[in-house]
Amino acid sequence: MVSAILAKPAPGEHVLVAGGAGYVGSHVAWLLCRLGFRVTVLDDLSTGHRDAVPDHASFIPCDLRDQEQVSGIFMETKPSAVMNFAARSLVGDSYRDPMGYIRHNLMIMTNLAQAAAANGVSSFLLSSTAAIFGTDGTGKISEAWPIHPNNPYGESKVMCEGVLRWLEEACGVHTAALRYFNASGALFCADLGEAHDPETHLIPIVIQAALGRRDHVDMFGADHPTPDGTCIRDYVHVLDLADAHVRALLALRKVGGLRYNVGSGTGYSVKDIIQATEEITGRRIATIVRPRRAGDPATLVACSDRIGRDLGWRPVNSALPTIIRSAWAWHAKHPDGFTGASPLPRPAMMALHA
Ligand code: UFG
Repeated sequence: MVSAILAKPAPGEHVLVAGGAGYVGSHVAWLLCRLGFRVTVLDDLSTGHRDAVPDHASFIPCDLRDQEQVSGIFMETKPSAVMNFAARSLVGDSYRDPMGYIRHNLMIMTNLAQAAAANGVSSFLLSSTAAIFGTDGTGKISEAWPIHPNNPYGESKVMCEGVLRWLEEACGVHTAALRYFNASGALFCADLGEAHDPETHLIPIVIQAALGRRDHVDMFGADHPTPDGTCIRDYVHVLDLADAHVRALLALRKVGGLRYNVGSGTGYSVKDIIQATEEITGRRIATIVRPRRAGDPATLVACSDRIGRDLGWRPVNSALPTIIRSAWAWHAKHPDGFTGASPLPRPAMMALHA
């Protein structure tokens, strides 16, 4: 179920989706197409997949770090709105290459922002992250929490939000940043979902183990300050994230400066995820306890009251069994991800909810 279904594109509304062949970006591009927006996806396919781009979207292969290339595409395609999903986004990996992460994410962001400002773009939406927040306090993380990232990836997104601020204040573009918690799940038709190589995210790894494609799951730390010792995260269904993007895009027609945390509001530990997956799939999943992963905060759970109040957003698909069932269906149908996957059916033909 997607509640932004009533959205209608304004005449001539053309959304450029940078990173739209990746996990969250492709689901947002899919929903935008489904709602009748004109969509152009830019992606270098370094981690994204050509088959994840909906048929109705135009696709332009592009190295978003190349200012000349980006600016040429803006001049030619004349988008009215931009969504930026293109980034390196792995918390642990960002510790191994901190400057590479910051440089990469900031180059893409400044190139897109500069081209947006120079080409009359009216709205710019940034895919941001819960990793921008400090985790010293207790309770759910609202927008009022201190911005104090625990890892270089989070820092790179703080910098991108800084660019966003000046894009709005100095260039007059309406902007939004959606700080999501743990994106998860897949389209209910099981033809679009999460596919990373190598996979590092918990839910797909647990499901691969349930499918017999891994012999165990590593648990990074059983000594965190949480009730069962494993990290707690807020898993939010990717379709709910897509819905939040469309709602923010519509709101940006009238207002700017939107900053929202987007999560389900419920936290689950690593052990909870493994147990729920065992129950849903009926398969036993072996685990090995490993040392903590660098940069992992013990607990991240969202307070999403602001986006609920302002935009009427609700995490309607984010109950844990819904997330795991949809991810399970996707991985079972496409065990090798998009390799050899049949092309994604046209969005208009697809059911939003099975
Ligand atoms: N984990 C394991 N074993 C694994 C993989 C993960 O124990 O094999 C643990 C991690 O240590 C962490 C939790 O499962 O405690 C979730 O890890 P993920 O890698 O799935 O996700 P992260 O929380 O590290 O990061 C994700 C996105 C970030 C985003 C963040 C926001 O990758 O981009 O959610 O909460 F910033």
